[in-house]
Amino acid sequence: MEDKKVIFSGVQPTGCITLGNYLGALKNWVELQNDYNCLFSVVDLHSITVRQDPVQLRKRCVDFLIQYLACGIDGESNIVYFQSHVPQHAELSWILNCYTYLGELSRMTQFKDKSAKHENNINAGLFTYPVLMASDILLYQTDLVPVGHDQLQHLELTRDIAIRFNHIYGDTFKVPEPYVVKSGAKRIMSLQNPTSKMSKSDPNENGYISILDTPDAILRKIKRAVTDSGSTIKFEEGRDGINNLISIYSAVTDKSVSEVEAEFDSKGYGDFKLAVAEAVIEHLRPVRERYEDLKKNKDYIEKIYSEGAQRAAYIAQKTLSKVHRRIGYVDRKYIKK
Ligand code: TRP
Repeated sequence: MEDKKVIFSGVQPTGCITLGNYLGALKNWVELQNDYNCLFSVVDLHSITVRQDPVQLRKRCVDFLIQYLACGIDGESNIVYFQSHVPQHAELSWILNCYTYLGELSRMTQFKDKSAKHENNINAGLFTYPVLMASDILLYQTDLVPVGHDQLQHLELTRDIAIRFNHIYGDTFKVPEPYVVKSGAKRIMSLQNPTSKMSKSDPNENGYISILDTPDAILRKIKRAVTDSGSTIKFEEGRDGINNLISIYSAVTDKSVSEVEAEFDSKGYGDFKLAVAEAVIEHLRPVRERYEDLKKNKDYIEKIYSEGAQRAAYIAQKTLSKVHRRIGYVDRKYIKK
């Protein structure tokens, strides 16, 4: 790989890719891909911490990868792959489990939330999930990790694990930094419950927009979006519903909040919602079109993820071999150097 900084990010193949994921993550990845060496993984190992239907999972994994590409991620200049195709993730994860404390893992808020939500399946994987995430990141000597707010605690733990390991064995891992995106950094909230994040696992599908939703569906969901009883299009404390629509409109049109306020100065919610819907539809149209095209090209998709996995495994193995040496494992003579 060229001598650029390394970025790693991943999305779990659960639910669907929402407008929130797109504006908060994928769209920014596209902007970063020329300036960094990027790895974008569909993190399917993480996804089985919650029970998945095998047929659905296999389909969704491929579908997510296609959507990465449809959003504009170049599958040839970046490494785009399925986490389960690179066994080094699971291997390093076991090792790092032995350098992570139960106390640290029990403080993770995502673990607490998810175990409350899935109380019949509080499995060990759910608990050690952050260690697998640390392995994803540390395997590639990652410099920067673009993550949402909800993942900062996991990233902090990743840094602690790396520092701890380096301290015991000498420099082994690069200690990664979170990459906080400048533009569009506002969180996109649920359309039905604008105080919580737009979530791809929201049981109410009016709460989120999938990037593959039809224009009709987008229009319907935005028309139904919850707003307050006011009437002005102003970004103000406490007006979560209208603020969220302003954020969405501003992100897809690249206009600032004050430009949006000025544009809708004498207009009401009805007009504004129509404009938001129209802008979102136009913004997502090319994504949906590319998705339909790519979906027909199975050979190309297989080539992208197969080559992606091989390139990822090559880099990952270098780190893993170093870790093995540091810990004191016997060299694997059968691995060709
Ligand atoms: N835990 C992340 C999430 O739910 C997904 C993820 C797994 C990830 N491994 C990662 C994100 C490594 C960034 C880097 O959003």
